[in-house]
Amino acid sequence: MKMLPVLLFFLLVTLVATTQATNGAISHQIHLLRPQTGSGGRHVPGISCLSWRLGVETHNIVGWTTVPAVCEGYVGHYMLGNQYRQDSRAVTNEALLYAKSLNLTKDGKNMWVFDIDETTLSNLPYYSHHGFGVEVYNSTSFDAWVLEGTAPALPESLKLYNKLLALGIKVAFITGRGISQRSVTEINLKYVGYHTWEKLVLKNSSYSGNTSAVYKSSERKELEKSGYRIIGNIGDQWSDLLGTNVGDRTFKLPDPMYYIS
Ligand SMILES: *[C@@H]1O[C@H](CO)[C@@H](O)[C@H](O)[C@H]1NC(C)=O
Ligand SMILES: *[C@@H]1O[C@H](CO)[C@@H](O)[C@H](O)[C@H]1NC(C)=O
Ligand SMILES: *[C@@H]1O[C@H](CO)[C@@H](O)[C@H](O)[C@H]1NC(C)=O
Ligand SMILES: *[C@@H]1O[C@H](CO)[C@@H](O)[C@H](O)[C@H]1NC(C)=O
Ligand SMILES: [Mg+2]
Repeated sequence: MKMLPVLLFFLLVTLVATTQATNGAISHQIHLLRPQTGSGGRHVPGISCLSWRLGVETHNIVGWTTVPAVCEGYVGHYMLGNQYRQDSRAVTNEALLYAKSLNLTKDGKNMWVFDIDETTLSNLPYYSHHGFGVEVYNSTSFDAWVLEGTAPALPESLKLYNKLLALGIKVAFITGRGISQRSVTEINLKYVGYHTWEKLVLKNSSYSGNTSAVYKSSERKELEKSGYRIIGNIGDQWSDLLGTNVGDRTFKLPDPMYYIS
């Protein structure tokens, strides 16, 4: 009896995955590390990494600093396999359905806010090289990677971006990257296909004592003060989507690799 909900869950996940796979070709910039079927959940004694991932995505687990050591392999396979792409597509599909459903005023003031890292640009080449688990974050090596300016686009986000532009919606990027990384970020965005934007906001020193949620709220408020309407907001961190002036709807992309408050 106890197995029944588990079996139902796996069946549901399998059906969802099958439906999504028929929606069109998946564009991969990252090769599969190991094919994933169904939920991709690997159960480790004492902890289900799938439950841990659900916990972080739903913001029930907060303030964590590293992926639990037992889940490092699981997170790596998730990020480099099909499930991350499919989960991302489920998010961007909803975002697009929502945007298309709006009766937008054609005054050029409708704006969509995108985060950058793990939202528009992917740092998977960096993480796949340095590891997904404990002691991952090294600002020296991460900054060196950012300065290469070679981060690929998240394919699903790039599609959403292009479709939003076609609907006449303006795009603003608000990133935790510092102002010294403006030009490499602009070059990287353009190189992978994000060819235009209304605003690119980077974090300046005035915000050095603030959380990302405070910084991003304040910058969204600035956008609204200049007359823009934030109709949508997408990011991989809850701190992209919580706080004030969050926009009419928010969309959370998956990211079980790190947590930023
Ligand atoms: C869309 O908005 C315009 C102007 O605000 C209004 O005239 C029109 O009736 C609306 N259309 C629909 C389908 O709601
Ligand atoms: C961080 O990365 C730099 C450059 O790759 C390396 O020299 C340094 O040892 C690393 N620091 C830690 C704590 O791993
Ligand atoms: C940082 O940006 C905010 C808003 O964009 C601005 O008000 C502030 O003056 C800037 N601070 C610095 C040090 O550039
Ligand atoms: C932002 O950081 C500054 C400097 O540390 C601090 O004075 C201010 O209270 C912070 N703002 C918020 C809303 O936390
Ligand atoms: Mg991000």
